[in-house]
Amino acid sequence: MKTTRPIFPAPPGPIIHTERLVLRPTRLSEVDAYHEMRSNAQVMLNSVSGLVDADREATQLFLNKLVNGKNGPTYTFSIYVADKDASADHGGAGGGDDGGGDAPATGERFVGNVGFYDMAKPAVGYMLRREEWGKGYATEALRGALNNYWRLPRHAVDSEDDWPELKRYQTIEQDGSVREGVRAMIEVKNAGSKRVVGKCGFALVEGKEWVPAPDHRGPEKLVWYYLEKPL
Ligand SMILES: CC(C)(COP(=O)(O)OP(=O)(O)OC[C@H]1O[C@@H](n2cnc3c(N)ncnc32)[C@H](O)[C@@H]1OP(=O)(O)O)[C@@H](O)C(=O)NCCC(=O)NCCS
Repeated sequence: MKTTRPIFPAPPGPIIHTERLVLRPTRLSEVDAYHEMRSNAQVMLNSVSGLVDADREATQLFLNKLVNGKNGPTYTFSIYVADKDASADHGGAGGGDDGGGDAPATGERFVGNVGFYDMAKPAVGYMLRREEWGKGYATEALRGALNNYWRLPRHAVDSEDDWPELKRYQTIEQDGSVREGVRAMIEVKNAGSKRVVGKCGFALVEGKEWVPAPDHRGPEKLVWYYLEKPL
């Protein structure tokens, strides 16, 4: 099917500012902050494996895939919030020694991650430190990231259309192409995450779900949400 895809800036950027948050391109040197977040069982409960990262190396591998992509380029951001009690070292923000000039400023606290992955079937993902839940940060970060994502320059692509369930949510443009969209894959019991995408305008894709093998330790059932690019 003919549709469009974003062209990501190189080097990664920009820094996105929302009312309370600063979204900075994710850096490999943030491994300590990510490891602390991904060592919490509640945070990892609804991840694909359902397990915390075994050690710092496992988090580094995760971060490598997040930044460099296992299915092509990604567009990923670390979320920070102004914190008058924090310093650049506090919260494991990490030094800017991997080529990024986007290291957090003194007084910013690491909150989590939001980003876009798998441009064959573009999807959004996000994860926050347990201590930061319930403050509206995920919704604010996702809104900010989406606003930026939809404004990126586009190129035309011919994409495989293997999702009949999506058709009723897709607009066909005058030239016959399909308006671009983004998906979110969510554990069916993850009420907080379902609410986040709902507040950001995503619709539940009826009839599309994934039930893993019974011995799988991660999610019980995944459902999909979908959002079209605004005009
Ligand atoms: C899901 C997650 C990102 C939400 O972050 P958050 O900053 O707390 O989200 P927000 O505060 O922006 O919004 C959460 C909404 O869900 C609601 N909510 C949270 N838990 C809920 C529950 N158990 N039942 C019903 N509603 C719930 C909140 O009240 C809020 O809605 P409101 O603004 O209408 O009150 C966070 O819990 C997290 O990181 N979880 C672990 C990783 C994860 O699940 N990522 C998503 C994978 S798809």
